[in-house]
Amino acid sequence: MSEHEIELSVNGRRQVVRVPARRLLSDCLRHDLAFTSTHVGCEQGTCGACTVLVDGAPMRSCLLPAVTVDGCEITTAEGCRAPDGGLGRVQRALVRCQGVQCGFCTPGMVVSIVAFLRECPRPSPEQARDAVAGVLCRCTGYQDLVAAVLHAARPDGGASG
Ligand code: FES
Ligand code: FES
Repeated sequence: MSEHEIELSVNGRRQVVRVPARRLLSDCLRHDLAFTSTHVGCEQGTCGACTVLVDGAPMRSCLLPAVTVDGCEITTAEGCRAPDGGLGRVQRALVRCQGVQCGFCTPGMVVSIVAFLRECPRPSPEQARDAVAGVLCRCTGYQDLVAAVLHAARPDGGASG
């Protein structure tokens, strides 16, 4: 099978990788580039666990051949950390509000919420529900996830508790 060389920016760092034409972005990130926060559940676009940001927009990486995002900027949950390498604002809020249980959905939630808050920095509770609606969580019942979105949106980033 022929391979293609593609160039991605993943979490701000340039990556050049050779992939078969049918290599999925999810597999490329996990297996070729070792960004293992990208979880793969259903592999058919339903669960959202594999969500990453492509040029800032949340996308199901299990549905995207890697060659189709050649030249794009990809953000995974690893790229949502704070500048000092600690947990980022959304990650901290998820922990604080107990929005993490088994953790399988968490990377997809993190990138989805980060993208959402860029568009809607001061969401209402109803809007916060939209932020997490695209990723299936079997554990939390979503209330704690919605609380985390609202916590992360506080003007101090939830830093004061
Ligand atoms: S693994 Fe991609 S949507 Fe479920
Ligand atoms: S925390 Fe388990 S699926 Fe969401």
